[in-house]
Amino acid sequence: MRESVITTSTRGLRMDVLPYRLYKKAKKLGIWNPEDIDFSQDQKDWTDTTPEGKTRLLRLVSMFQAGEEAVTLDLLPLIMAVAKEGRIEEEMFLTTFLFEESKHTEFFRLFLNAIGAKEDLSHFHSEPYKKVFYELLPEAMGRLVTDTSPRAIADASVIYNMFVEGVLAETGYWSFYQSLAKFGKMPGLIQGIEYLKKDESRHIAYGTFLLQRLIAEDSSLYDYVQERMAELAPYAMAINEVGVADSDPNDPMYVRPEDVMAFTAKQLSLRMEKLARAKNKSIEELYQTSEEAMGVLS
Ligand SMILES: [Fe+2]
Ligand SMILES: [Fe+2]
Repeated sequence: MRESVITTSTRGLRMDVLPYRLYKKAKKLGIWNPEDIDFSQDQKDWTDTTPEGKTRLLRLVSMFQAGEEAVTLDLLPLIMAVAKEGRIEEEMFLTTFLFEESKHTEFFRLFLNAIGAKEDLSHFHSEPYKKVFYELLPEAMGRLVTDTSPRAIADASVIYNMFVEGVLAETGYWSFYQSLAKFGKMPGLIQGIEYLKKDESRHIAYGTFLLQRLIAEDSSLYDYVQERMAELAPYAMAINEVGVADSDPNDPMYVRPEDVMAFTAKQLSLRMEKLARAKNKSIEELYQTSEEAMGVLS
């Protein structure tokens, strides 16, 4: 039974709060259509790629493809938890979030189809990758079906928004830029990744807001989040290690393993830095955070 209605009350809709502003941005920027991307040059570039280069690209794309599928399949319990608390503005944003993840899943599959990659790519998923995407992520998200305690929500957001989106995906985009984009290769793939990065900047901003809100309500959660991040960090390093294992220093698109590691480490500390800022803030102050301060791209 519903006790009251929010949007017909004197409160109405809070259009000034960060989640609602992210929703408005998503309505403008999140509507790109993966089907509009032209992969014809990518097909030519693929034909010209060496067998080793093909393996490296398929490995990276297969990790993105499986990652986007996982975040699409696993998000719903978080939306349900937020809806249950009557947080209408946050839920409105989350509808765009899920729609965008679906498009990301579609986008990578369209790319793979365009280059004719029809074989099973799951052998590219290393053990640490599987641990995160086959086990830890679905478990933390699935738990919200029966447990919507602040700790359970924090757990889910740490692995989903901070770790998978904020650390792993960001490292992956960076690798694409260091290799393909620098050399003008695979323009369709790179164009899609440009869109994806903008979408993901809103997702990460929301996750940061959500965790900040939880920490503002119970400051002991900050230490808990920090512990969880520290537990996850070795998986990021292990996933990177496998990812760069057979890279060739003579390849012009070579990315130095230590640079990948340094980038990941920087992302890990950046996420915690942003959360630390919430410690002494009121919820109202958090609602008023600017998109710029959250690193939202436009
Ligand atoms: Fe995504
Ligand atoms: Fe995302």
